[in-house]
Amino acid sequence: MSDLFERLKKKEAKLAVIGLGYVGLPIALAFARKLKVVGFDINAKRVDMMRRNEDPSDELPPEAFKGADIHFTADIEDLRDVEFFIVAVPTPIDQQNIPDLTPLLGATRTVGQVLKKGDHVVFESTVYPGCTEEDCVPLLEQLSGLRYITDFKVGYSPERINPGDKEHTLESIVKVSSGCDAESAETVAKVYELVVKAGVHRASSIKVAEAAKIIENTQRDVNIALTNELSIIFNRMGINTFDVLEAAGTKWNFLKFQPGLVGGHCIGVDPYYLVFKAKELGYHAQIIDSGRFVNDSMGGYVAKQTVKKIIASGTNPTDARVLVMGATFKENVTDIRNSKVADVVKELKSFSCHVDVTDPHADGAQVKHEYGYDLAPEMKGPYDAIIVAVNHAEYAKYDEAWFKSMLKPKGVLVDLKGTYRKSVKNLEYWSL
Ligand SMILES: NC(=O)c1ccc[n+]([C@@H]2O[C@H](COP(=O)([O-])OP(=O)(O)OC[C@H]3O[C@@H](n4cnc5c(N)ncnc54)[C@H](O)[C@@H]3O)[C@@H](O)[C@H]2O)c1
Repeated sequence: MSDLFERLKKKEAKLAVIGLGYVGLPIALAFARKLKVVGFDINAKRVDMMRRNEDPSDELPPEAFKGADIHFTADIEDLRDVEFFIVAVPTPIDQQNIPDLTPLLGATRTVGQVLKKGDHVVFESTVYPGCTEEDCVPLLEQLSGLRYITDFKVGYSPERINPGDKEHTLESIVKVSSGCDAESAETVAKVYELVVKAGVHRASSIKVAEAAKIIENTQRDVNIALTNELSIIFNRMGINTFDVLEAAGTKWNFLKFQPGLVGGHCIGVDPYYLVFKAKELGYHAQIIDSGRFVNDSMGGYVAKQTVKKIIASGTNPTDARVLVMGATFKENVTDIRNSKVADVVKELKSFSCHVDVTDPHADGAQVKHEYGYDLAPEMKGPYDAIIVAVNHAEYAKYDEAWFKSMLKPKGVLVDLKGTYRKSVKNLEYWSL
């Protein structure tokens, strides 16, 4: 292990986190309780908020900033004396579901401009195996004029936190880490061990660590796709998927996945990174790709099933009013990025239904900006259909009597997650 670890501990060397979003800010603050940290982000507005102890991602309370030795900045000059860099910028996909490395390569360029001999750069962003060494390292070499491994070290340590999850936090989840040689691998692991109480798993290479992260989310995506497909089959058979899963789940080795909309910026995105890389290597990843196809189709499927019920009730979809409860990509978060509820709304509107969308967590301006529709100021029945699209805790208080009061006499309750299936007796009811 290099002496960098000891110097970081004595605050003789600085650590920087590049990209202070859902992932970067908690890491930066955790390190800032032990080390001297620079928190860098290109978004000056977000930097200003963090200087005022506000988390722009709305996950951390102001107390999380207390006692942190951190300098928030958007100025590259503040990175010149940093020796340990952690990159945690977004890795999205484009309209064609191809990896968009623009933010990652942008952050790499920033680091490349200030890189010095002996520095360590650890990437945390989720990528396909090979991305760190094939896409980022050449850029670091080119901009710094330094040589990989001989002059500077690189590592990869994926992030496993889950937005809105207060139980599985940075400190309590085992972290996978890796380095470009034995010495740097140990330095990187030791640095993370300062903040990850659950411990660090040392992966045998950067590529192995990259692959480990991408398959965690790919495995989830494919399994959810299977339950979604089962749900489509069981719907044709007239049986409830959640009832079937409950029965099958009594077997010790049955995996407990549920059908639903798969949105957000991880599970619905990361498998495309693997599909892309496989294709580059001459292999068509059929199972992963099919899983993506099934999950990406679920919003349209839910809307079509709803419209069928509306027509069956004798109402022309053009005259129908539909309430969609929930706009975020999952329950109890404010995050609306890549929310598949938008697909449900779009499909309903394509049938000319009038749609009210409400959400106790989502920001109306963000929804309008991202998806082009307003959130309804209130839920105002009677509706022809109510779709409970997201299981926010606030919705637990609603019961059959309430849904009945909000629906027309022949209206349908579409309960995506099957939450109310055991309590609703006298309503037209449908779940995945
Ligand atoms: N959010 C999660 O729960 C989660 C979990 C595990 C892994 N990940 C992965 O972590 C990475 C980061 O995701 P996130 O959710 O924190 O993203 P985010 O969108 O919340 O935050 C990204 C931050 O990076 C900043 N940024 C963008 N480009 C930059 C650049 N060139 N230089 C400096 N800053 C830049 C943005 O301004 C923003 O503040 C992604 O690869 C993601 O797949 C996310």
